[in-house]
Amino acid sequence: MSSGTIRLRDAALGDHALVVRLFPDLLTGDPPPDLERWRDRFVPTSRIALVDGEAAGYLYYDVLDGVGYIRNVVVDPAHRGRGLGRALVEDAGALMLARGCDRWQLNVRPENDPAVALYRSVGLEIAFASVALRLPWALVDRLPASTRPLEVVAAAADELAAIAAAFDLPEGQLEQLAAVPRVFVRRLRDPEDPGALDLGVAAFDVTFPGCFPFRVGRAEDVGALLRGLRSLAEETDVIGVVVEGHDALAELLIDAGAEVKLRFVHMRGPIRVASAS
Ligand SMILES: CC(C)(COP(=O)(O)OP(=O)(O)OC[C@H]1O[C@@H](n2cnc3c(N)ncnc32)[C@H](O)[C@@H]1OP(=O)(O)O)[C@@H](O)C(=O)NCCC(=O)NCCS
Repeated sequence: MSSGTIRLRDAALGDHALVVRLFPDLLTGDPPPDLERWRDRFVPTSRIALVDGEAAGYLYYDVLDGVGYIRNVVVDPAHRGRGLGRALVEDAGALMLARGCDRWQLNVRPENDPAVALYRSVGLEIAFASVALRLPWALVDRLPASTRPLEVVAAAADELAAIAAAFDLPEGQLEQLAAVPRVFVRRLRDPEDPGALDLGVAAFDVTFPGCFPFRVGRAEDVGALLRGLRSLAEETDVIGVVVEGHDALAELLIDAGAEVKLRFVHMRGPIRVASAS
């Protein structure tokens, strides 16, 4: 039980062991970051909560074009209910404000009452429900054919902003992903309407392997998009797909045999915490 003094500091390489210990409590089903990923991706924007000098929780966030993303926040079970989670979240909000963000967002399991209550208390609201699925590639052949002759093409750099707008994706997200080695940003193209940029898009990370974001305008076109991605896949039998705010699409894939890995809700809102002094 903690009743001591709470302090926050920037994360360091040596906090990796703490993160490996606490990460499973996020229940994502993913492994904790390895040391290299912790150093390169997490450390620059992670904060550590200390109780009487002992590390007892961490928060990892991201900033993208004026929006802050809380990626992970975990407090050691022995120190929960004592204000560490709130301190970490409010601190992250202040850091995001200082970096020019006026909004923030995150994903959380809807049944995670403590986390949802914490986020609501700082002004975040549930925007839509999402589901992370695992699909065997074999399932893709069973998906219905589109009623139009769609093809899958690389999304051109000058199309990304319009595609993002069509699917309500965060500005800059596709550009950022397109710059990552072995992430392929692909879109659906209708040869009879080549300028239509609202048919479907996926950022396919072949190292995962999985797609995020993954969007189709019409659920029935999902097979066309997945079949077009399969040629990029390396030697894996399954692909992960995150379906955001599109219940008909999630149902179609689940009915076809996709396994539900995780259900979560997307929360977002204005940052209303006090700025850092
Ligand atoms: C969510 C979590 C980070 C909260 O950390 P914490 O240090 O226990 O939270 P705090 O003590 O700062 O409480 C902050 C607020 O959270 C909410 N909260 C915390 N525990 C709660 C509980 N058991 N039931 C309901 N609400 C709770 C309350 O709104 C609370 O505000 P209040 O004290 O003014 O009532 C912690 O429970 C945790 O690590 N959970 C496992 C990992 C996880 O699920 N992370 C979130 C993933 S999106």
